[in-house]
Amino acid sequence: MATTEAAQASSIDTATPRLGQNISRTKAVPWYQPEVGSSLTPAGRQLLETYSGIPASEVEDHIYKIRDAAWEIFPWPCVGEFWFISLGLSLHPRYQDLLTRLCVKDASTKLLDLGTCLGQDLRKLIADGAPSEALWGSDYFEEYEAAGHAFFRDADRFHHRFIAADLYDESQESALQKTAGTWDVINIIMFLHIYDWNAQVRACKRILKLLSPEKGSMVIGAQSATTEPGEIRLKPPMVAEGEEKTLYRHSLETFTRMWEEVGKDQGVKLDIWVVYDDEADWKLRVEEEKARGRDRFFAGPTQRRLFFTVTVL
Ligand SMILES: C[S@@+](CC[C@H](N)C(=O)[O-])C[C@H]1O[C@@H](n2cnc3c(N)ncnc32)[C@H](O)[C@@H]1O
Repeated sequence: MATTEAAQASSIDTATPRLGQNISRTKAVPWYQPEVGSSLTPAGRQLLETYSGIPASEVEDHIYKIRDAAWEIFPWPCVGEFWFISLGLSLHPRYQDLLTRLCVKDASTKLLDLGTCLGQDLRKLIADGAPSEALWGSDYFEEYEAAGHAFFRDADRFHHRFIAADLYDESQESALQKTAGTWDVINIIMFLHIYDWNAQVRACKRILKLLSPEKGSMVIGAQSATTEPGEIRLKPPMVAEGEEKTLYRHSLETFTRMWEEVGKDQGVKLDIWVVYDDEADWKLRVEEEKARGRDRFFAGPTQRRLFFTVTVL
């Protein structure tokens, strides 16, 4: 972030989860995958070739180069595993509805991609017809703005659309806080699941405050989930030796309950819609991963992906 550690310390609640700056960038972890493989879908390839103008023969090398640059910013599993080229938002069952809403002429719907990382979901929306003026990204790491431009080669076409901020920073200096109450749609893909229950609840409250209070304002997203919900205490190599970090993996039921509690606390009536991704699809993917020697390392057969919308009534 642009602010100094001292400024952060004074402006952020002491219980705010911090993203460890000293985390190792070693590539000797299971989620730093050597090859992009099936994560590069025809849609991902098409986006890079058509929107970014990358020659077909250079697409894979380009992905590896940008993945390593992004790894240096922060070694997220979604970066190591090439999730960023799977274009997660476009896999959402309500993606087409969102696209239609963004494309309505003069509707001036504003979307914030929170935890945007390389900004792939925004670029996919643009490639599918959404007006770029409707779209913003925000992330804790300001370095992702340049990394996203390098990935999509669109610095000349998609600029001044990045808000560097910590979601948990409620101070008036926060560029994100200045936008409170203005967003029609907030996208959170693979965001909440990196935090424990309490931190997720705080994030959801912040997100509701950023959202416009108008009926129909919506949070849309996806994240890892499980049919056996609970706190997971991470062990090395997922955290550094001696480091303590816990995250909460939701089921459909716990995710719904969390948002119900948040809505009640904030006095906002919400419609909460949550589904797991297709079971048959998921089993097929697990088999494919096994066949390629890429067994999943975060959870067992109870693992799912969860898609949701949370809409202001
Ligand atoms: C697991 S990654 C997912 C990135 C992207 N949405 C995707 O689907 O590929 C989570 C992202 O959220 C950002 N993030 C995490 N905590 C944040 C915070 N407190 N404020 C703002 N961004 C945060 C991270 O820097 C990272 O880019």
